[in-house]
Amino acid sequence: EGELSTSRLMVNSSEKVLGKNLPTYLQSTQEGWKVNATLVTMIRKDILRFLDAERDVSVVKSSFKPGDTIHYILDRHRTLNVSHTLHSLLPEVSPLKNKRFRTCAVVGNSGILLKSGCGKEIDSHDFVIRCNLAPLVEFAEDVGLKSDFTTMNPSVIQRVYGGLRNETVREHFVERLGMLNDSVLWIPAFMVKGGEKHVEGVNELILKRKLPVHMAYPSLRLIHAVRGYWLTNKVNIKRPSTGLLMYTMATRFCDEIHLYGFWPFPKDAAGNPVKYHYYDTLKYRYFSRAGPHRMPLEFKTLKMLHSKGALKLMTSTCR
Ligand code: CTP
Repeated sequence: EGELSTSRLMVNSSEKVLGKNLPTYLQSTQEGWKVNATLVTMIRKDILRFLDAERDVSVVKSSFKPGDTIHYILDRHRTLNVSHTLHSLLPEVSPLKNKRFRTCAVVGNSGILLKSGCGKEIDSHDFVIRCNLAPLVEFAEDVGLKSDFTTMNPSVIQRVYGGLRNETVREHFVERLGMLNDSVLWIPAFMVKGGEKHVEGVNELILKRKLPVHMAYPSLRLIHAVRGYWLTNKVNIKRPSTGLLMYTMATRFCDEIHLYGFWPFPKDAAGNPVKYHYYDTLKYRYFSRAGPHRMPLEFKTLKMLHSKGALKLMTSTCR
């Protein structure tokens, strides 16, 4: 057999799946799913040639001094200075050092989660990864509450927390961070210029209020490494979505990965409308090829991996 090439698992990347007549690969196949431990191990090894989540999940304090210059990863000619605030929040060691889990959940933000009743199941995993500080309490029955690792794009501060401009929005934000309960908050702070003010605001608030979160800021090579892995396996994803980044990283430390809330389509398998996010009114921005992500292609890839037992992609209800 030789070494695993995930490419053998992939299919052509047609993206004409916008919810009219759903091709069979979008139809649910939850029954009889079983993890393929051999394949999981092969994929982990294969991904390790490109990135090591233990290391790449975050830069560490010893790599920088305050005042150092960082070139934005996707915006190489623009730079950021490492502030004292940022520097003091950098972890001393990787927040994932020596971590191993039997089962992990990666929770995407699709409206497919609404009325899923998946909250309990999600919370039953040993390690739960969530994206972009999505609200939990009001949706607990469908999405759960447990959070061990939460991502936050800097743009969320502008879009959801009014740029932390006044006390009300700051309190709202502090309250949301309270839900993290000493777990990891992962901010891709070095991707593109634009969010630095927000990242600094978040960092200052965390320090000032001594909020119990462990900060992580992905390494400068993470995104290239993840892209490299998928490209080598013939999945042409220029800007992997947060969800795909999280799955790729999770292969390092999870034996079984279950994905929830991944459904980048405006209709479900029965043709009923599905919200882009389970919690807001944001629209499907990513259907045009001009958008930064290719979520339908990612989905197709994940679905294929699901059918081989490499991961479990949950797209039905959990009841
Ligand atoms: N997702 C999905 N289907 C949706 C919405 C989201 O599969 N309808 C997955 C994607 O992998 C996405 C993740 O859930 O990266 C988190 O969703 P979201 O917070 O919406 O991420 P975006 O801001 O859209 O994209 P990113 O953070 O990846 O730039």
